[in-house]
Amino acid sequence: MNLNIESHPLHDAAAELSYPPSEEFARQANVQDPGIYRAAAADPLEYWAEEARQLHWHKPFTEVFYRDKPHQNEWFRDGELNIAFNCVDRHVLAGLGDRTALLFEGEPGDTRSISYRELHVEVQRAANMLAALGVRQGDRVAIYMPMIPETVVAMLAVARLGAIHSVVFGGFSAESLRARINDAGAKLVITADGGNRKGRITKLKDTVDAALRLDAGEPSPVEHVLVVKRCGNEVTMQEPRDLWWDEEIMTYDAEHRPQAFAAENPLFILYTSGTTGKPKGILHTSGGYLTQAASTMRGVFDLKPETDIYWCTADVGWITGHSYVVYGPLANGATQVIYEGSPDTPDWSRWWQIVEKYGVTILYTAPTAIRAAMRIGRQVAQQHDLSSLRLLGSVGEPINPEAWRWYYEVIGGHRCPIVDTWWQTETGAIMAAPLPGITTLRPGSAQRALPGIYLEVLDDAGESMDPPTGGLLAAVTPWPSMARTIWGDDQRFVETYWERFGDAYFTGDGARFDEEGNLWLLGRVDDVLNVSGHRLSTAEIESALVEHHAVAEAAVIGVPDEATGEAVAAFVILKTQQQLVTPEDAPRQLTQFVAEQIGAIARPKQLLIVPELPKTRSGKIMRRLLRDAAAGKSIGDTTTLADTTVIQVITDQISGR
Ligand code: WT7
Repeated sequence: MNLNIESHPLHDAAAELSYPPSEEFARQANVQDPGIYRAAAADPLEYWAEEARQLHWHKPFTEVFYRDKPHQNEWFRDGELNIAFNCVDRHVLAGLGDRTALLFEGEPGDTRSISYRELHVEVQRAANMLAALGVRQGDRVAIYMPMIPETVVAMLAVARLGAIHSVVFGGFSAESLRARINDAGAKLVITADGGNRKGRITKLKDTVDAALRLDAGEPSPVEHVLVVKRCGNEVTMQEPRDLWWDEEIMTYDAEHRPQAFAAENPLFILYTSGTTGKPKGILHTSGGYLTQAASTMRGVFDLKPETDIYWCTADVGWITGHSYVVYGPLANGATQVIYEGSPDTPDWSRWWQIVEKYGVTILYTAPTAIRAAMRIGRQVAQQHDLSSLRLLGSVGEPINPEAWRWYYEVIGGHRCPIVDTWWQTETGAIMAAPLPGITTLRPGSAQRALPGIYLEVLDDAGESMDPPTGGLLAAVTPWPSMARTIWGDDQRFVETYWERFGDAYFTGDGARFDEEGNLWLLGRVDDVLNVSGHRLSTAEIESALVEHHAVAEAAVIGVPDEATGEAVAAFVILKTQQQLVTPEDAPRQLTQFVAEQIGAIARPKQLLIVPELPKTRSGKIMRRLLRDAAAGKSIGDTTTLADTTVIQVITDQISGR
């Protein structure tokens, strides 16, 4: 673990800048009283209970919180609700059936507008269809889909039945998909023939077939594959396993009575990278998760469901898509845009066209996307009328002040507060962010823990650090949307998050508070990389590399990258007795191999063939030295190295490139 956290230069550069909320924004904000922090602190459980009461409970809870052990937390445990009822039915019952739920824009330019009434019909049909296919409470359903309305319908239908969805990002490889399907024991896979991305068709069904073929010989948990027709590309349907979604769903009734499930009924598993080669299946449950996703939608995004057009650009394959495309917005009856494709298709004006066309008022995206738009130049964005925007959001990594200012000026027209939201797959929902009607914005800072949330910066021994010293970020009290466990691996859950500090949850992030109480994130302190706001594990990429027959050993590190925040760099030792790759061709072949094993997001940007890796005498790879060498820094203390000449060879090789 790298505890050598220095204060980040970009934070100091930004320290003088501050943006108090405009009077106009403050006057209309959902949260206007700064006393909210004090009120929540006086009785956090009552604060969250009140937020939970904004949902519809078939059976109201009487007990707000129950903790058995620090890592065993239950929220609203005697309450019962149905997640899909909360996201769809209750809005229709409240007379809002005509309100638009989804404004879908496909990459080729096709559009669909879906009202809450229509969504209600589709979710009920889908629930009946899944039930007929044998999906029951607690069963796992894998969803491997493009960003289309059926994906949202599928998630809600699974939730409606009290079953558990596991959405796998459509960019993941057959091998990654296989591992996730099997780990969760999914009996059903929902996919599409293809999805549109960068003007091409991503052949999702083919990848599902490949994933299930990898199981050859071993029993697969999968009984059926439901295939949505999206692109019309040719696919092989294997009877009786594979079924067309569109043909099946037509045969089902549009009425499905939602059953109430306990607040702690599992809602979804979402795999995320950790410090080992095996992704962690983060498990979230129902009542607490929906409470915080919905609450932060109102407080942080200042959502006005009657008038806002909200757009979160995240894919549903990530936690941002779960909480701020599906559950948070829909629980509040929001109207939102969902876009299938990439920001540069047919060209880089696409996003701004969408903002103008739909009159988007709230835009939530990632710093990497803002930096990409910045590189293209402000003229492209300025050709569009972006005056509908009133609030901007950022997530995934710290936003550098330069990108912050560009976002503020060029996209937000100096009018829109930017909410920099810090959270994680494990936290389920936003934990730290400004409250836009109250907070004076500091570019680059995630500002402050939300009301009812308590974050502290601790040292390695768990002692609180005084500002502005950097340390480890921990959540010291429980919160409703916290992960409940790692699917099938309670022990790993405890070891990863709870053993370090005893009572407090360890985030894996370094951070510091400044004297004003603003929170500055300093990046991961474990072997987890953040590439374009997506989490990757060095160990996972290393184990993919050593799967290759020509590879003897591999070490992976993150290197700073202007576009993606961090980029993957790999150092590889080839086997001496192999004839598969030549050292010249190895980088191309091996980076491609990683993309095939894990997915394109994991493809190393640099791959260097080296004769040896820097190791301690006990054989542990010293990644710190590789990081320094890659960054062109002088190599620090090498006294623990078994062979001190190794790093010189590598440094020479890097500078010789
Ligand atoms: C990690 C979580 C939360 C959805 C997207 C990523 C980093 C996230 C911020 C932010 C600084 C951030 C952290 C965190 N991170 N948001 N606003 N400022 N860092 O979810 O894949 O679970 O990754 O992303 O390092 O631990 P994730």
